[in-house]
Amino acid sequence: MELSGGRTKIGALLKTEATGEEVTVKGWVRTKRGNKNVAFIALNDGSTIHNIQLVVAPAQFDEELLKQITTGACVRATGRLVESMGSGQPVEIQVTELELYGTADPESYPLQKKGHSLEFLREIAYLRPRTNTFGAVLRIRHAMAYAIHKYFNEKGYVYLHTPIITGSDAEGAGQMFTVTTFDLDNVPQTENGAVDFSQDFFGKHTNLTVSGQLEGELGAMALSEIYTFGPTFRAENSNTPRHLAEFWMIEPEIAFFELEDNMNLAEDFIKSLVRYALDHCADDIAFLAKMYDEELIDRLKFVVDNDFVRLDYTEGIDILMKSGQKFEFPVSWGLDLQSEHERYLVEQHFKKPVILINYPKEIKAFYMKQNDDGKTVRAMDVLFPKIGEIIGGSQREENLAKLTARINELGIPEKDVWWYLDTRRFGTAPHSGFGLGFERLLLFVTGMANIRDVIPFPRTPKNAEF
Ligand code: 4AD
Ligand code: MG
Repeated sequence: MELSGGRTKIGALLKTEATGEEVTVKGWVRTKRGNKNVAFIALNDGSTIHNIQLVVAPAQFDEELLKQITTGACVRATGRLVESMGSGQPVEIQVTELELYGTADPESYPLQKKGHSLEFLREIAYLRPRTNTFGAVLRIRHAMAYAIHKYFNEKGYVYLHTPIITGSDAEGAGQMFTVTTFDLDNVPQTENGAVDFSQDFFGKHTNLTVSGQLEGELGAMALSEIYTFGPTFRAENSNTPRHLAEFWMIEPEIAFFELEDNMNLAEDFIKSLVRYALDHCADDIAFLAKMYDEELIDRLKFVVDNDFVRLDYTEGIDILMKSGQKFEFPVSWGLDLQSEHERYLVEQHFKKPVILINYPKEIKAFYMKQNDDGKTVRAMDVLFPKIGEIIGGSQREENLAKLTARINELGIPEKDVWWYLDTRRFGTAPHSGFGLGFERLLLFVTGMANIRDVIPFPRTPKNAEF
């Protein structure tokens, strides 16, 4: 079997027969139990949700060494791979050699016991990858990132790296983190007392990007089909289970796509990702289903097997108004739907994912293609059970005059977006795209309830310790 770092991975061993051969494993102790005749150590190396059982005869080892092998300690074990007598695992290792790499003092190691709350684990996020839950979540997160690149690569899309530092506010929502090298105790000012960004590092005001879309469009107007996949940053002070200040977004942008094509891509994309998870992450998903969400697997299969509903915003509002439901935010045409409304449509009314299109222009970004009614734009949001909005996208306004008029109406200075407007000046084309929130996808696939639990190091208001 293949060695990595002088050991066989536990995931690979657990898939083999009891050969009786000598093997070496390395990992972190989950539990140790037993008596003076035999000790059982459950060892995990992160390659799988399952532990391998080490069977140790205490008489053959130094007593001090065995005493130090406690939960959290890191060890190497060498021994024969044999069929397991106990239930729960097919094979185990009869240990002949033990080496202790690192102890974990039982008095102070925070993951001493099982069954810590997710809230507690967030406070020790730097250690939580050592738990079953976060091992599973992080392996699924990796698998989904891989599946995303695989999906687009097979379709011939180009992965475009858009900048993280930018001067633009793509969504026009103003929720940006400024990037500066100014000494904050001594910020240069202009004559009229404003901050003088001309003296800053980039010679202008810059921020962390809220979306790679605008630059993505520049790529699509040359390469036809691109996608971005990178971190995005929003300084929105919303402490909800669905918002992060730093999250990852996947943004395909496609020349010659109309809204209909965009919807077809979004539906196929998300179904293929969920299918990939079901096919490749079965052990981890089964674990999370057992621990947190019994309906998880059915929900995943349901999404793969059923067509999404496609519906006009106006019809959606109609359904909500006739629902007889009491919503915290009252419903009328023009309302920026809240997750309570989105989830009503998806979970109560249609019982299926919904793609809502043609939103009022007032509640959507400046770049969306304007419909002939003068009121709505060719927006599309994909709404999911338990999540609400998982994808936001649109056909883009490719007409220079209409786009300029909208920018002026919204008071966006043309000097900030002249380069974007140039794409409409030189070889403009119909095009569309969308953004999938990576962590929202992971919420859906893992069944976790809080977005802080699907990213290794969550960034939320007042939280950036590690
Ligand atoms: O709807 P949004 O704001 O759309 C855009 O940024 C467009 N530029 C996308 C495009 O057309 N290329 O964000 C897209 C998705 C949302 O549907 C949601 O899944 C996720 O990004 N999202 C967040 N996820 C976590 N935390 C936040 N604060 C999020 N804000 C948006
Ligand atoms: Mg949105």
